[in-house]
Amino acid sequence: MDTRVNGAPSPAPDAPGLSAADHLRDRLGLTGTKVACGSGVCGACTILVDGAPTASCLLPADHLAGRSVTTVEGLDGAHPAQRALAAHDGLQCGYCTPGFAVEASVFVDAWRAEHGDTRPGRGEIADALAGHLCRCGAYEGIFSAVAAACAGEFDTEPDQAPPRADAPAKVTGSARFSADFAPPGTWEGVIVRSTVPHARVLKVSVDPGPGGAAPPLVDLLGEDRVVRYVGQPIAAVAAPTRAAARELAGAVRVDLEPLPAVTDPEAARAPGAPVLYPTKEERAAAPTYGEAPTPAAPWNGNVRGPGVLLGF
Ligand code: FES
Ligand code: FES
Repeated sequence: MDTRVNGAPSPAPDAPGLSAADHLRDRLGLTGTKVACGSGVCGACTILVDGAPTASCLLPADHLAGRSVTTVEGLDGAHPAQRALAAHDGLQCGYCTPGFAVEASVFVDAWRAEHGDTRPGRGEIADALAGHLCRCGAYEGIFSAVAAACAGEFDTEPDQAPPRADAPAKVTGSARFSADFAPPGTWEGVIVRSTVPHARVLKVSVDPGPGGAAPPLVDLLGEDRVVRYVGQPIAAVAAPTRAAARELAGAVRVDLEPLPAVTDPEAARAPGAPVLYPTKEERAAAPTYGEAPTPAAPWNGNVRGPGVLLGF
């Protein structure tokens, strides 16, 4: 049986080791499918495989052979869920939006088929979208958008422009982010992360490549050489291709000395619990929630709407 992508015949994926997301983005140019976590947690890469929402970052590309695949581009921007997300401002940066739109399209269709044009409860929407994370926190708009689409309020194009000028491009997957461009000569980077919650890192190393050259390895640890959560960046590597960069990351050796850790709030409050930043100086130097130095200029809020863009 032929592989079909967005209704058209498509070459069967033939590169072993490639994910479905990589195949769609890199081979077919369908960059509306985003990869954020790359590990099945965030839902940004959701596509439909034979109509079922699927995390394409975890799916081997050859599993698409003979299947019918729909990406956000295949919804054509005409699905009520897409119109509603734009109209209800259910997005900010828009990186998670294609995944939400694809998943919501299935939920909205199924809900209306079973319940008619009625509003689901918040819990039902939350259950349907449980596999999706929006780091910008646009959840209120997403909830109200999905409810309105289920109620049949977006079966036609709304008269009013959406509050955010770039919303149509973001709900259709046509908005292009920096990760969607790869000029010739671009290298791929991979972050090596901590697999333990608390440890002192003694050494980070990688064997020399062919010819004895040291592969590019950037140490990302602070002066105290301590990791304090699973997933904390330890080092970065880069290579001309994604596969080579991943292979290099897999070859990085991290020697560490485990430190005591707690994984629940009760244990963290117990007397004698391990302290992440024991001294006043360490606490003062600890990273803040902002993840970056204080900007030099004040931030005046999110700028939105065509009037603002045109300087009115
Ligand atoms: S990128 Fe696939 S689930 Fe996050
Ligand atoms: S809109 Fe930015 S992550 Fe959801």
